[in-house]
Amino acid sequence: MDAEKAYVLGLLHDVGRKFGFSHLKHIWDGYTYMLSLGYDEAAKICLTHSFSIQNIHDYIGRFDIEDGKVRELEQALAAAEYDDYDRLIQLCDSLAGSEGVMDIEERMSDVKRRYGAYPQEKWDANIRLKAYFEAKAGKNIYEVVEKETYKPS
Ligand SMILES: [Fe+2]
Repeated sequence: MDAEKAYVLGLLHDVGRKFGFSHLKHIWDGYTYMLSLGYDEAAKICLTHSFSIQNIHDYIGRFDIEDGKVRELEQALAAAEYDDYDRLIQLCDSLAGSEGVMDIEERMSDVKRRYGAYPQEKWDANIRLKAYFEAKAGKNIYEVVEKETYKPS
């Protein structure tokens, strides 16, 4: 993988948040914004980063866009062919907290507490992502991301 590309895609995955606080809408906003600028790969990351299971209906949060837009996202998500950039940003998103790196299961439990539910299939997929990149890196993911020492500035 190209580390710089992964870094840039990571920076841009939530660019949809620049249009204000939202739930599924931040996916729509980021995806369509990057497409409008011609950054198709960044658009794909904006679309896929919340979906370790490739199903729009597994989104945890409010469906705060019109049905037609949900259907458009649904089709684009179903058509997306995931690569390791999609998978890496999904994993990083499932480890990232506002104070730094979180334990993946603690973070999912926190989401479960806040939203009342967490699809088991999605939970298992996130655990598999962690194992997938640990196998590639040949070490514990928390070592890779310096969980104990990294503090966002
Ligand atoms: Fe996001």
